[in-house]
Amino acid sequence: MCGIVGYIGDKKAVEFLIEGLTKLEYRGYDSAGIAVNCGLNIFVEKAVGRLDALKEKLKNREPEGNIGIGHTRWATHGRPSDSNAHPHTDCSGKFVVVHNGIIENYMALKEDLISRGHKFISETDTEVVPHLLEELYNGNFLESVQKVLNKIEGSYSLVFMSKDNPDTLICAKQDNPLVVGLGKGENFIASDIPAIISKTRDTYILNDGEIAVVKKDSVKIFNRKGEPVGKKIFHVSWNAEAAEKGGYEHFMLKEINEQPKAVRDTMSKRILKDDSAVILEELNWDKKFLDDINKIYIVACGTAYHAGLVGKFYIEKLARKLVEVDLASEYRYRDPIVDENTLVIVISQSGETSDTLAALKESKRLGAKTLAVTNVVGSSIAREAEFVIHTWAGPEIAVASTKAYTTQLILMFMLALYMAEIGKTISPERTKELIDLLKKIPAQISETLSDVDPIKTFARQYGFNEDVFYIGRSLDYDVALEGALKLKEISYIHAEAYASGELKHGTLALIVEGVPVIALATQKSVYEKTLSNIKEVKARDAVVIGIAAEGDTELEKYLDHVIFVPNTDELLIPLLAVVPLQLLAYYAAITRGCDVDKPRNLAKSVTVE
Ligand code: AGP
Repeated sequence: MCGIVGYIGDKKAVEFLIEGLTKLEYRGYDSAGIAVNCGLNIFVEKAVGRLDALKEKLKNREPEGNIGIGHTRWATHGRPSDSNAHPHTDCSGKFVVVHNGIIENYMALKEDLISRGHKFISETDTEVVPHLLEELYNGNFLESVQKVLNKIEGSYSLVFMSKDNPDTLICAKQDNPLVVGLGKGENFIASDIPAIISKTRDTYILNDGEIAVVKKDSVKIFNRKGEPVGKKIFHVSWNAEAAEKGGYEHFMLKEINEQPKAVRDTMSKRILKDDSAVILEELNWDKKFLDDINKIYIVACGTAYHAGLVGKFYIEKLARKLVEVDLASEYRYRDPIVDENTLVIVISQSGETSDTLAALKESKRLGAKTLAVTNVVGSSIAREAEFVIHTWAGPEIAVASTKAYTTQLILMFMLALYMAEIGKTISPERTKELIDLLKKIPAQISETLSDVDPIKTFARQYGFNEDVFYIGRSLDYDVALEGALKLKEISYIHAEAYASGELKHGTLALIVEGVPVIALATQKSVYEKTLSNIKEVKARDAVVIGIAAEGDTELEKYLDHVIFVPNTDELLIPLLAVVPLQLLAYYAAITRGCDVDKPRNLAKSVTVE
């Protein structure tokens, strides 16, 4: 999730580039850079760290040119560094590119380009693009860009600049946002509307497959076949703050809705083309590595801990390895039984949570093999662990974790499949069946997000209750824990999750008339038992809202309300069942007038113990 800007007009390009990147700072990034065509050469400057580091480098040496591109990077391939920052150039420095997205076939392209003598200086996937343009350039800028686009696979928003075409920027969109801002005698390009909203509110919003040829006094749009595309001007009526949230009222709602893309991105490049296996190039484990491991710990905090509970279920079910899950703040003080035959997996969105980092360091001191599952490339936890695999959720701004959780589940599921493949603990047929279902999850999350009205209604009806219970068995219990945390942390309602089989051992005493109970009943293997627990709370006149898989006709006979999620293998349903719980928490917090993105007493990354 990088930030992109471009300018072409009569003013100094660098002024808009820096101003535009500043407006995109909220998205989170780890490095930044600009390139300006100064006629004799293309000026490029990049800096790791905050935008101020780039501004410092530009002091007293700002380029004069009137055409330029800029970028703030959220690292996915290649750690944060000056050399990995964008823009990237070809060998000659004639072609310069900025990119947001993931180029899935970059390794093959890079190897071919190296064999043709191209020299690479970064670890990024993006750098193959300017070298491809150098290789394919035939004098016609647009034609050559189209040839490049035909070679690359994956998601991208790209902006191209060429020394030999000082009056033109070309940009292309596939799966990642890109807008062209229409000025007077000048035009702007950005990955996000906030970057240009102070310059113009008239924009072309590019669609997938579209290419824009942007000059200072014209913008022409083409499709991938090179045919001209007519575009309506989209007039942006949002204010600047709303624009940062992509038109959503809060970052949390934006990030809940980003989950289909975040999950798809996290899966990308990690499934073989024939869907026969998961590939985790970052690990490169073999059977001996796994055979030497006689115990696995998953250690994390908060939402990441809840993802670890689901991860335990996946690894034990699919890879048949013993897993223990522990809170990072507890693990360290238990004198854990850890040695060189233990694998400790730490999960952390931010990669900076002190309790988790400390648990990781303790595990290494005890001789364990360590794996980090984190969303931030180059974070402390990513750098500390022996192995690291990244969720590609993009920056998560809201304090309440949502897309981080679902991408953590996806990655834990893929890790379990990867381990099962090595250990041959499930059949190739079962592996393919699960991968086919896995690939359907992004669309099913979208489907779950498409009808929020019933959830809004429940939130308004029960948003003023002071006690809410979440119950479920097996994976439903793990998701219930996450649902309860969401409600607690942003609406301040006292919510508790219970294994529904546990109610009769005490908590049932709290279930009285009118108490809202969210009952998850998606796990077929324990459905009958769950149903009898639901009847227990109904018999005490609780108000029960069920979460069930489509096709369930039983639950409605007993419940006031049932929210259905698309049906799939019960292992994967947590990825869908959590979505209505996220939305329920969100709308309950709205009902109560809470600060959804910045709830009281909480921080996005808890860097204190
Ligand atoms: C979850 O919504 C909270 N923001 C919090 O529990 C969070 O999951 C926890 O602090 C762990 O953060 P991490 O994933 O960045 O390590």
